[in-house]
Amino acid sequence: MKPAIVITAGPTRERLDPVRFISNYSTGSFGYAIAEEARRRGYRVTLISGPVHRPAVRGVRMVMVESALQMRQAVLKELAKHDGLIMAAAVSDWRAATVAGGKLKRRSRSLVVRLAANPDIVAEAGKRHPDKVLVGFALETGDLIAQARKKLKEKNLDFIVANRMNARQPVFGAGKTSITLIERSGKRRTYRQMSKKDLSKIILDKVLARII
Ligand code: CTP
Repeated sequence: MKPAIVITAGPTRERLDPVRFISNYSTGSFGYAIAEEARRRGYRVTLISGPVHRPAVRGVRMVMVESALQMRQAVLKELAKHDGLIMAAAVSDWRAATVAGGKLKRRSRSLVVRLAANPDIVAEAGKRHPDKVLVGFALETGDLIAQARKKLKEKNLDFIVANRMNARQPVFGAGKTSITLIERSGKRRTYRQMSKKDLSKIILDKVLARII
């Protein structure tokens, strides 16, 4: 049987009021590339996507969400029916503690917005579905390997795709990128300046080896 995988992609948007939100620069390029490659291989794919400017991937079940809480709900529901999860989405770590019902007015010179922490979706997915293959991403501006290793362990992942971001290496939407793939055993390998399509093949080979 071909594997069935859930892939998440894109940013989440966290509403402040009916017309404003906080979010991040994610374009969904990596997650969509993985979904396309998985579909090309004949896998059963559910792509849970935050708001992005991309057409739906043909042959893939698309679940569109907006916020981290919606993404959490979709991931937990879908993962039960799949073999693994590739969590490429850039989930907002915070949401507004209270969402204003009406448009916030420009009354004062400054505005304090209190934020509440969003749940860690991939960590929770691993706890609820310990039998599934889990792949996370780590986007770091600091110590790449140490931070990614920490996330791999804390989130109990099978693999983590570590991505460095700095002024010389923009990540969001970039055509080619470099990643270090770290396994639970500690084994790691760096792939430099490759297309997201080719990197998707490498990631999916690893996932497949775990599933079968
Ligand atoms: N992630 C998640 N839920 C969150 C935040 C992140 O599932 N609320 C997932 C991401 O999709 C990614 C991995 O966790 O696969 C690491 O995300 P990252 O933003 O690099 O790390 P954080 O855990 O948010 O830690 P920090 O922001 O402190 O670096």
